[in-house]
Amino acid sequence: MFGIFSKKDRCLGVDLGTTGIKIVELKKENNLPVFINYAISGGAGTLLQSNELELLDGQAKDMLGQVLVAGNFGTKNTVLGIPGFLSLIFFVEFPEMPETEIQKAVKFEATKYIPTPIEEVSLGWEIIGNIQEKSVEGGQMAAQSRKMQIMVVSVPKSTTEKYSQLMKATKLDINAMEVENFATARALIGNDKGTFMIVNMGSKATDFTLVSDGVVRVTRNIGAGGQEITRSIMTGMGVDYERAESLKKADRVNLLDNRNEITGMIRPSIGMILEEIKRLQEVYHKKSPLKKIEKVFFTGGASKMKTLVDYFAKETGMDCQMGNSLARIGVEKKYIDVLDSISPELTVAIGLAMRGLDSK
Ligand SMILES: Nc1ncnc2c1ncn2[C@@H]1O[C@H](COP(=O)(O)OP(=O)(O)OP(=O)(O)O)[C@@H](O)[C@H]1O
Ligand SMILES: [Mg+2]
Repeated sequence: MFGIFSKKDRCLGVDLGTTGIKIVELKKENNLPVFINYAISGGAGTLLQSNELELLDGQAKDMLGQVLVAGNFGTKNTVLGIPGFLSLIFFVEFPEMPETEIQKAVKFEATKYIPTPIEEVSLGWEIIGNIQEKSVEGGQMAAQSRKMQIMVVSVPKSTTEKYSQLMKATKLDINAMEVENFATARALIGNDKGTFMIVNMGSKATDFTLVSDGVVRVTRNIGAGGQEITRSIMTGMGVDYERAESLKKADRVNLLDNRNEITGMIRPSIGMILEEIKRLQEVYHKKSPLKKIEKVFFTGGASKMKTLVDYFAKETGMDCQMGNSLARIGVEKKYIDVLDSISPELTVAIGLAMRGLDSK
């Protein structure tokens, strides 16, 4: 019961992605999270879910059950990811007030941001900073007031309920649910100070997360990712989905070469992501002119495309690189080689599992 490997020191990160379910098990050893097991469903190009409804029906339950059996994990303690596109994250400023009042104020303020009735969403909030505001009248300082900056996360109750049912049906113990953006920030940035952007290119969607001084400041999500890139190749080359997938993953892709056959076909999908990076940089620069985005970290399976990161670096003039989701955890020797190629797909699951260990 008091053994070093007590099961409470383990956590599963469960990422229900569009292309598959990804589960990572971390164990705390000498206070460091260590990667000890994982399981992924589906082969290349298999689309398990194409939208929220499919994801949450019986198919998801069966699929998750199978992945859990395959993984044979040592704990049921689970942190579950909520896709960025199912959440709404916004920021508000309040005058200083006691915590008991904040809940009420958040609820009131949320009605301005959330299109659905407030009773239909689960709201979470966190104080992310304080600012001193000075008002000046006629050249004289009129007043000084302290304001609190608060981040609010809203998720439809229908989503959290369905996810809870899924957890119950698969007999997992839910430690927390977390929107994916926070998981990627934990895995790729941790407590590093400075200002960074994360671009998580998945199958169906790409998530953008701006983190400054260890706090998530802006998030965005667009419906373009690996699946759309594959479809562009399908149409352009007149081949089937499988063939297009393998062409996309091949070494022949070269986004830096305009004469490359595939480059022209996939530029529009990649262009949407490029435009969003530029837009986010502009928006953030206007809001916080003194904070320069130091690095853009790419993650997610679709970011593994050859020359992609170099292409974004060239087009944005920013310091772009692949994020390293293993930088803040230890890895059991037998997984080092396989993680070399699949760690970008596991970033969300790793970040989720880290949270489950953090809170102990
Ligand atoms: N080497 C590669 N080159 C290019 N694309 C790749 C490569 N390996 C995987 N992909 C693409 O990555 C995508 C899957 O990535 P990931 O597992 O991060 O998505 P997901 O989490 O299932 O999707 P979402 O986050 O949108 O729900 C697929 O579109 C796949 O084709
Ligand atoms: Mg994903």
